[in-house]
Amino acid sequence: MPEPLQIAPATGRLGILTPGMGAVASTAYAGVLAARQGLAEPIGSLSQMAHMRLGRREEGRNPLIRDAVPLASLDDIVFGGWDPISPNALEAARTSGVLDERDLGPLSGELEGIVAMPAVFDQRWVSKLDGVRVKTGETKWDLAQQVLADIENFRVENNCDRLVMVWCGSTEAYQEPTPVHDTVESFEAGLKANDPNISPSQIYAYASLASGVPYANGAPNLSIDLPCMDELAARNGVPVTGKDFKTGQTLMKTILAPGFKARMLGVRGWYSTNILGNRDGEVLDDPENFKTKEVSKLGVLDTIFQPEVYGELYGNIDHVVRINYYPPRGDNKEGWDNIDIFGWMGYPMQIKVNFLCRDSILAAPIVLDLALFLDLASRAGQSGVQEWLSFYWKSPQPAGGVPPEHDIFIQQTKLKNTLRQWIGEEPVTHAEDE
Ligand SMILES: NC(=O)c1ccc[n+]([C@@H]2O[C@H](COP(=O)([O-])OP(=O)(O)OC[C@H]3O[C@@H](n4cnc5c(N)ncnc54)[C@H](O)[C@@H]3O)[C@@H](O)[C@H]2O)c1
Repeated sequence: MPEPLQIAPATGRLGILTPGMGAVASTAYAGVLAARQGLAEPIGSLSQMAHMRLGRREEGRNPLIRDAVPLASLDDIVFGGWDPISPNALEAARTSGVLDERDLGPLSGELEGIVAMPAVFDQRWVSKLDGVRVKTGETKWDLAQQVLADIENFRVENNCDRLVMVWCGSTEAYQEPTPVHDTVESFEAGLKANDPNISPSQIYAYASLASGVPYANGAPNLSIDLPCMDELAARNGVPVTGKDFKTGQTLMKTILAPGFKARMLGVRGWYSTNILGNRDGEVLDDPENFKTKEVSKLGVLDTIFQPEVYGELYGNIDHVVRINYYPPRGDNKEGWDNIDIFGWMGYPMQIKVNFLCRDSILAAPIVLDLALFLDLASRAGQSGVQEWLSFYWKSPQPAGGVPPEHDIFIQQTKLKNTLRQWIGEEPVTHAEDE
């Protein structure tokens, strides 16, 4: 048996802070409030609904994950966040139109009480939005100090024992790391010198880590995946994870592709297109913001198919991803995939997938799980990149220079085996004699 980790109990209140109070964040808050009142099941959440086998099959031990590991209870969660447009979570939920009024009605008082703090916002990074509730300061350093103060005030005013931050803000314009991102020292100097390469999401990430608050990045932009943030997370002993919630089309890709590979079926092309009409779709209509998303979406197939190993099956794939902003569709995205596969003696076949999906309905449980699991990691003394949470990401952040794992089934095994190890249980390998 592995030695169990010393995990501090989840006593007191857990604050979940989201930079960005739009469709995903407000749907996540609403679902937790509804589950708390017994109005809805937390469907899609592993932390709430999944079981985990412990020990050998004949032992018959299969508890809920939340009974096996000490997760914070939904009753102990309090939400907060920042947004340059939405004044509060009720307005955000109504504007995004994800949930029906009949579901929002019983939660309206609580949602209205989640008031957005003014945001660190700069149109240079999200050109399609006009921020109206925006922090001002001489330098980016001043803005970071204001976020640090917001975090501390929230902690005190809401009597929170612990906090986590999950970025649910818009996708920022595409960016490569620059020297200002090299070290904590260079980043802090850059904040003071208003370095143009420091984006708003990096200011939140910095403030989060500087406050010892675990951070997850729900969008594909650079935020936590920078050397300076690695250094700060290590220095302050803070767990982090990213990036880009795995929902919709990419979720389907990482479910289907491992199946083709398991059966050694070849793939010649994968054409994916989406129409969506929410604010996210509008932001992604800008080529610079779409590029950030495209890079994140395209990376998935290569690591699953390993074309360097299986050249004859996957060495020549045309992989195309398109997103089209189409307002009538709102948050109910429609994704089409045309997959050209081939089998025995090279004979071609086609698969068409038409996913009429609800993006925020798929993303909301991820926000909850990430918050609860990061809080667990923190209480278990873990810091830095949490690879076992790759399960939730389109672009999982690897630790230690190895390629990220995209196969959702391997990711799920890794998640559960990590939890098993932490509580002193043997990993489940599914070997014949087990
Ligand atoms: N919905 C999904 O399935 C999904 C999947 C993967 C990633 N994401 C990402 O999650 C994020 C949220 O998605 P959404 O559908 O809720 O989008 P949304 O447009 O409804 O909400 C984003 C919110 O962020 C706010 N915002 C923008 N810049 C900000 C800043 N600097 N500080 C604080 N708030 C800021 C916007 O005003 C908006 O209210 C997006 O980046 C999106 O790409 C969503």
